[in-house]
Amino acid sequence: MVDASRADALRGVPETMLWTLHHRAAEARRPDTVLPDPRAVRLVEAVDFPFVERFGHPHTVVAQAVALRAGCFDAVVRDFLRACPEGTVVSLGEGLETAFWRVDNGTVDWLTVDLPEPLALRYALLPHGPRQRTHAGDARDLSWTREVDRSNGVLVLAQGLLMYFRPPEVRELIAGCAEAFPGGSLVFDAVPRSVVGVGRAHPRRVSGRYRLPPMPWRMDAADRPALRTAHPGVAGVADLPLPPGRGLLGGPLRPDRIPVLRGKRPSVTLLRFAERPAVVG
Ligand SMILES: C[S@@+](CC[C@H](N)C(=O)[O-])C[C@H]1O[C@@H](n2cnc3c(N)ncnc32)[C@H](O)[C@@H]1O
Repeated sequence: MVDASRADALRGVPETMLWTLHHRAAEARRPDTVLPDPRAVRLVEAVDFPFVERFGHPHTVVAQAVALRAGCFDAVVRDFLRACPEGTVVSLGEGLETAFWRVDNGTVDWLTVDLPEPLALRYALLPHGPRQRTHAGDARDLSWTREVDRSNGVLVLAQGLLMYFRPPEVRELIAGCAEAFPGGSLVFDAVPRSVVGVGRAHPRRVSGRYRLPPMPWRMDAADRPALRTAHPGVAGVADLPLPPGRGLLGGPLRPDRIPVLRGKRPSVTLLRFAERPAVVG
């Protein structure tokens, strides 16, 4: 068991890594799970943190959606590793994600970037192997880009992170990645502008008494083309569908299958960077 006071000390955005773990583990416990993740199940049992008291019981649809989002990121990583088996995956704001163990091909080089406190908790709970490196720091400070080996291809992941940044910070991060990783890619998820309350100082409750922190950056499908303007090296912008789910998230009522909701749903986007950024001006 890890000391509760350590996990308890994480408030605000870092605490959300325990919220996503709580939901991923709940989904992984189901016999018909959309994302087998035994390590997440063991992990949630290893943290001495009052998950249910703090976050409420996981809502099955929310838990499945969190797992489908993770599954969507996993699919991108697997595609990348088929093309670049020794490539580098950088996971920004990785929290207590267990993706490395779901997708490891035996040769990937993995860099976890997170703030010092959450990273220390991750390290205590999830001992890393020799191909897993860490950078303790703010993802918006691009010093982590200097620790990335570019020789075998680069894929940057930002799952559950960019919505907590201000819009100019998101553009700067995209521009910094395009500049640093020609030929590389960045995958991130976004919440739609229409999600009620998430941008306010006190966003709505998602479960129990818990409220997710404010989300200053939101994006609808219609905003996606504008991502190209973040940097001339942004060569491709693609909307990634979630893997098929169960029930509401599997059938014809899935938000991405209903035209009126399609542009206003949580989304996952892949940006491809040009081999050589075009000359500006
Ligand atoms: C919602 S959690 C997502 C965790 C994980 N990616 C997942 O999907 O389960 C947000 C994560 O971003 C980290 N984070 C917040 N602000 C950050 C920043 N400025 N730089 C790096 N990481 C940050 C938090 O510590 C936390 O681990």
